[in-house]
Order: sequence, then C-alpha cells, then structure tokens
Amino acid sequence: LQKHKGKDFLRVDEFNGEELMELLHLSAHVKQLQKLGQPFQPLQGKTLGMIFDKASTRTRVSFEVGMHQLGGLGMFMSGKELQLGRGEPISDTAKVLSRYVDAIMIRTFSHSYVEELALHASIPIINGLTDLYHPCQALADLLTIWEHKGKLKGVKLAYVGDGNNVANSLVLGAALLGLDVRVATPVGYEMDAAIVAKATGYAKQSGGKMMVTTDPIEAVMGADAVYTDVWTSMGFEEENEVRLKAFADYQVNEKLVAAAARDYLFLHCLPAHRGEEVTTGVIDGSRSVIFDQAENRLHAQKAILAALV
Ligand code: CP
Ligand code: NVA
Repeated sequence: LQKHKGKDFLRVDEFNGEELMELLHLSAHVKQLQKLGQPFQPLQGKTLGMIFDKASTRTRVSFEVGMHQLGGLGMFMSGKELQLGRGEPISDTAKVLSRYVDAIMIRTFSHSYVEELALHASIPIINGLTDLYHPCQALADLLTIWEHKGKLKGVKLAYVGDGNNVANSLVLGAALLGLDVRVATPVGYEMDAAIVAKATGYAKQSGGKMMVTTDPIEAVMGADAVYTDVWTSMGFEEENEVRLKAFADYQVNEKLVAAAARDYLFLHCLPAHRGEEVTTGVIDGSRSVIFDQAENRLHAQKAILAALV
C-alpha cells in the first residue's frame, strides 16, 4: 500500500494491471472487514474535501460514508458555492485546500480542469467523474464482475450505448485486467479513438481482447456481462432529443440479452432511465447486479482512499 501514497487517481490506468488487481483484493478485504463488523480506520484525523459541480447520489454518499468508516471526515463542497464559482482560480483553490485537507475528490465537467487541480495541489486528487472518465465506477464494476464470475481474465464484457466517461474507464480497466471487451456504439457516439488504441495496447499485454463495432448483437453475442449507461450524460441535456433517436437501436432489452450467455450479468452505473437504454425487465430482472455495483463503490473507494492518503 505504501507505494501509492500521495498519488492521484484521475484515470483508471494510473495503475497497471497488477496494481489494479491488488486494489481489487484490498477492496474485497475492506468489504469483508465491514461485513464482519471489524473496524478498519487507517485515516483517523484525515479529511477528504469533496467538490461537486454536477449532481450525485452514489459518489457523494459513498465517499462521505467511506471516509467516516475509515476514521476520517468527508466534507461536501458545492463548486458553485465555493469562491471557485465566483472566479477564484483553480490553482489558488488547489493550494489553499492543500493546506486544510488531506485529499480532494472532484466531480466536474472538463477533465483538464481536474488535471490542473492535481498539478497545483500537493495532496492526492481523486476523479469522481469528468466528461472523459469515471475511474471509481470502473473499479467498483470490475470488483462486481470478479465477485460474481470468480475471475476477470477472459470474461466477455459487452458495453452497449454511448462511448462516454463510464465506457472509457470501464474499457481501459477491463483491458488492463485481461477481459474480452466488446463495445457497440452508434455512429457519431464512438469512444475516443485514442482511448480505444490505448485499450487495445493494454489488452495485448494482459492477454485480453478489445473490439469495437456498431452492431449491438455482435458485441453481446455470448457475453458474460452486458453493461449500459444513460444515452444523455450530465452536461449534454440539450442534445437529449437527437440522442434518443440516435440510440434507439441500442437499447439493452430482452431480445438483445437473449444473445448473451445464459448466466450473463447486467450492469449499469446508475442512475438509469428505464425504457430508454434498458428495459425494466432486464434492469430489474434476475441477472441484474446493479445494487451490488452501487454498494461496491463504497468498498472500492475505501481501498483507494486507504492506498493514496
Ligand atoms: N454512478 C454514479 O456515479 O452515481 P452518482 O451520479 O449518483 O454519483
Ligand atoms: N455517464 C453518466 C454517468 C453518471 C454517473 C454521466 O456522466 O452523467
């Protein structure tokens, strides 16, 4: 654990495959301790500052509760209500907060804004979602797949829908850990080509696979896990109508999952729009593990906090 102290967690691939697997083992351990009622409090007296420029249920609550369980404090700050909202530079904010708190979690729009925060802060910065990445989510997702499938290497993971922040982090993490990744997105909503190239490189090293297509059936064929996310992410609301049309053939429904393995898992980072990206039958059906995923945010983030802070 010592080797990660002071590091940032802006992208899931800040860590290599071996380190990610160590973090998943730590997450599972931290989860077990909590289930046994045994305290794990390495962060006594420590404070996590949490800056939010976008809405959140899971990220906000799991980080705040997680810090409490680790013996420290999680402190919510709305970006709008900080002086940041009145134009104080992010660089000054980084330096000031570095004098008060021991780490910062931030959820915002631009990823480069978070990189700027990290550049000027002397404490670990954790990405709680940007327009480009959602690394804490990916860690919880991989933990969930690992728990249910008993392995990660070779697991066939299909992501269907928008090539967004959740897809980017999931795919990078899965490629690092040797999963067989298939992504189906409509034309115009593909994952960033540079991220696909990176993931392809990681998959080569880990023995995994990386495939992108516009055909959801091709992606889901024989899949062990089927993942989707909303069609309209936070910050893209004005595109909603256009997106509903563009994604119409990418719904995860009974017909699509019939192509998956019988014991497939359904995953979604939540919040979900039933009847849009996924049908009620699939998301509320017996193969859905969405609430395990949500719970695992807590355990995976406690592991990250314990490792970095
Ligand atoms: N999955 C996720 O990050 O949820 P919140 O937006 O509720 O934090
Ligand atoms: N892609 C979604 C994820 C929300 C947790 C968004 O960015 O709004």
